[in-house]
Amino acid sequence: MTLQQEQIPAQQDKHAAWRGRSEQADAERTSAELDDAEAIKRLRERSRRLLGSMIRPHKQSIAALVAILVGQNVATMATPILVMYGIDHGIPAVTDHGDYTIMVVIAVAFALCASLEYVCVRLYTVQSARVGNTMLYALRKRVFWKFQRLSVSFHERFTSGRVTARQSSDMESIREMTENGVDDLVLAAMNVVTITVVMLVIEPVLAAVSLLTFPLMLLLAKWFSRVSAIAYRKARETVAVLIVYFVESMGGIRAVQAYRREERDRDIFGRLNADNRFAQAKGHQQNAIMAGGMRGIGHLATVVVLSFGGWQVMQGNTEVGVLAAFLLYMKRFFDPLNELVQFYNVLQSATAALEKLSGVLDEEIEVAEPERPRTIEHPRGELRFDDVTFYYRDDKVVLPNLDLHLPGGQTVALVGATGAGKTTIAKLVSRFYDPKGGAVTLDGVDLRELSEADLRGEVVMITQENFLFNGTIAENIELGKPGAPRSEIVEAAKVVGAHEFIDALPDGYDTHVRKKGGRLSAGQRQLVVFARAFLADPRVLILDEATSSLDIPSERLVQRALRTILADRTAIIIAHRLSTVEIADRVLVLEAGRIIEDGPPEALIDSGGNYAELHRQWEASLV
Ligand SMILES: Nc1ncnc2c1ncn2[C@@H]1O[C@H](COP(=O)(O)OP(=O)(O)OP(=O)(O)O)[C@@H](O)[C@H]1O
Ligand SMILES: [Mg+2]
Repeated sequence: MTLQQEQIPAQQDKHAAWRGRSEQADAERTSAELDDAEAIKRLRERSRRLLGSMIRPHKQSIAALVAILVGQNVATMATPILVMYGIDHGIPAVTDHGDYTIMVVIAVAFALCASLEYVCVRLYTVQSARVGNTMLYALRKRVFWKFQRLSVSFHERFTSGRVTARQSSDMESIREMTENGVDDLVLAAMNVVTITVVMLVIEPVLAAVSLLTFPLMLLLAKWFSRVSAIAYRKARETVAVLIVYFVESMGGIRAVQAYRREERDRDIFGRLNADNRFAQAKGHQQNAIMAGGMRGIGHLATVVVLSFGGWQVMQGNTEVGVLAAFLLYMKRFFDPLNELVQFYNVLQSATAALEKLSGVLDEEIEVAEPERPRTIEHPRGELRFDDVTFYYRDDKVVLPNLDLHLPGGQTVALVGATGAGKTTIAKLVSRFYDPKGGAVTLDGVDLRELSEADLRGEVVMITQENFLFNGTIAENIELGKPGAPRSEIVEAAKVVGAHEFIDALPDGYDTHVRKKGGRLSAGQRQLVVFARAFLADPRVLILDEATSSLDIPSERLVQRALRTILADRTAIIIAHRLSTVEIADRVLVLEAGRIIEDGPPEALIDSGGNYAELHRQWEASLV
């Protein structure tokens, strides 16, 4: 990579810290932070729809899971009643008449309940993990596929850190929710209802007194849900910012090192890391208060039941067995609620994750595939811009009403100052973006109606990024024409002048390029990309600063190859070095999105306009 390219991540890094924060504001925003009631409703609706679509394929399995939980609930609820009968009827029968029948029946029933509970817990654990895993598998696949299809404009807005967070921490939150806690939630709800009903049936007065602590518990839970929502969200946000910063700092690692930014990055990362630790600590403190409080209330309830119940027993209003059963019920009442406290946070982050993922999944695909795609019978590579208006943000028009006609087979050079809109034109031809007004047509077909296969087959854009995929050199060239035989791959490499260096590599064409082609020089990567494009044999080829990473001798080499590569196709060459422009049939000079000069290079030089001046400066720089 050249320095010029490195500067892009470096500049981005400079503001990564605050950008992380502002980004979090829009990316990590969840329902609790939105003021607009209508917006919250839409957000909830959206994530409910996502949840529904996740659950729908598993309706039967989920019904089975609920049935298992009902079984478990019955088993746990029955045991205190058995204890009650044992104490009140079983033991007296033994002591008074030496009759063991009741005790034996109770013991057998107890064993049955215990077995049922065991079976249910086991079944539930296995089944719920299976369902949860399958749901997560499908969700991951959906999100990945969506990110792949979302247009370039989306990815230019949505940073890689955020993409990473969607696939990592958000998925993790949902996994946590599906894996543990849902059973506690359902069981706790069932318990509260069953226990209340059973206690009221057995002994209404004692039941009423036992439930006295319930409002206290509700108050505590209400406080907790309020404060922990804030603390937990803070913790999630800080960790999201941390991930975004980490991913982006690593993505620009070369720039970081080239500009000696390690120390600064370490400081910023350290600060973000500390923010996260602080937020986590706060959450844990609240958890501690809540968990302790719940236990305290549980004990208080026991004390109340024991004292009032004991007094009732002494008065002869109730039996000891009933009191024992109530005490057991109190425990079964509070235990799952305790667990629920832990689950509450998991549930919250899973809800937030669902909201964010549903946002990604609902994201409109700006550059959508046509519903009824058209194909080109005889591709000639004729390009036309019909009154095209384009802007990235509506406050700044980049291309105002552009008209342009490129007959098939022409080699056109696009020159102009930085920011003039050259790359934008290239992106419109490749349909990374659609025009806001007017139309871009290829052989008379609007690009928006052209089938994806035709578009990608007929238009290839090469940039200075020259991305290589992990794999061998041969595989990377073959991407241009999947399934091409080795002979064609080698032929393509020969045409662009890449064969010699590839042949000299230890494994030749089977040399692995490593991550993003890190093993090859920038010029070599570029030649591989050229070979790929040549093999693809598109009607329209766009080179955007494609040779700027080559040194002069390599560029000369490519220059020669270019004549072969570009013959018989429409080519748009964007270059600051005019040496590349020399092979063009026609030069377009662009200024602020308008074509101010158009003609064969020699004619433009003779006319003494902008291009002539550029050319003069370039020639002067050569000597
Ligand atoms: N993704 C984007 N979002 C917002 N504005 C953009 C985006 N990409 C480019 N622009 C703006 O559009 C204008 C044209 O950019 P473009 O990349 O087409 O210029 P260029 O002629 O290719 O410049 P260079 O020679 O530096 O590559 C510039 O003002 C730039 O700031
Ligand atoms: Mg550009």
